[in-house]
Amino acid sequence: MIRVENVTKSFGSFKALDGLSLHAREGTVLGLLGPNGSGKTTTVKVLTTLLSPDGGDARVAGHSVLADPDLVRRNLGLSGQYAAVDEKLTAFENLHMVGRLYGMNRRNASARANELLENFRLTEVSGKRSGTFSGGMRRRLDLAGAIVARPKVVVLDEPTTGLDPRGRLDTWDVVSRLVADGTTVLLTTQYLEEADRLADHIAVINHGRVIAEGTSMELKQNAGSERIDVVMRNSADLTAAAAVLEQAAGPDCRPELDPQNLRVSVAASGGHHLLVRILSELDARALPVEEASLRRPTLDDVFLQLTGHAAAENEAATEKEGVPA
Ligand SMILES: Nc1ncnc2c1ncn2[C@@H]1O[C@H](COP(=O)(O)OP(=O)(O)OP(=O)(O)O)[C@@H](O)[C@H]1O
Ligand SMILES: [Mg+2]
Repeated sequence: MIRVENVTKSFGSFKALDGLSLHAREGTVLGLLGPNGSGKTTTVKVLTTLLSPDGGDARVAGHSVLADPDLVRRNLGLSGQYAAVDEKLTAFENLHMVGRLYGMNRRNASARANELLENFRLTEVSGKRSGTFSGGMRRRLDLAGAIVARPKVVVLDEPTTGLDPRGRLDTWDVVSRLVADGTTVLLTTQYLEEADRLADHIAVINHGRVIAEGTSMELKQNAGSERIDVVMRNSADLTAAAAVLEQAAGPDCRPELDPQNLRVSVAASGGHHLLVRILSELDARALPVEEASLRRPTLDDVFLQLTGHAAAENEAATEKEGVPA
């Protein structure tokens, strides 16, 4: 239902997309995961015909963005990274207008608008101008607008950035229902939990290229079998603790430091025996430990290993820039 084949796109001499290929089968969610600036929005723009690729091609429901952009648009709903709603119109009028633009008669457009307002918990503010809405309310309204016409393919660029936990759960619920109805969804996100929960298939991109793909489970398996985390009591002990972990885990296992949380982590096989060894070694050197654990890798670990960024760093960066939604 979605095929991106070897797409390149440059802005001046900068290659935003560098031979990107993606595929999603009908009725599945493809999660596009990548740090800031990795090319997620550029991919979304190529797929939704807002930008034309320099090389390669992208197909939506079998139609090429180069040869048949109108047919692509007819099969597709988009909710962009920054919510696009008409501030002068009420919530109801925004959705009603989209329905009318897609050729629905007044009655059907009204019914669909009311149904979506209900699904997105916007019924109470249905008659209010959307210009007065909070960022989260606009996001929900924009998302509702993307699915008014029940498109075969829905593209969501960071649909939950800026939403409160309840709004995020609502959005996840909507995406799950879309997929249950046979819709194909491409979703970009910086929230690994979101990709983990929603995506059937995940493509991790960096510098405009896919650097890893698979199911969440497959990606985690590639990140090593187990991880040991140790949280130290004193930040001054971090380097010494890292040396202990490295020595115990072996030369191929380089520990990762998270100074903010006083945490040292290492991917290693060795199970609880290794954890016990590390703890007794730290104890012998009088390095006090606050917390220690042995756990399976998360998608966060995968992301960190592949891109050299923690997902949380990206979230922090986004918050700093502000999300004008
Ligand atoms: N119109 C443009 N002109 C010049 N450079 C651009 C343009 N659009 C995007 N870029 C650059 O292309 C790269 C990829 O941008 P893109 O918006 O696709 O990233 P992203 O993965 O969506 O990031 P974010 O997580 O911050 O939304 C960035 O380095 C960006 O600065
Ligand atoms: Mg983006």
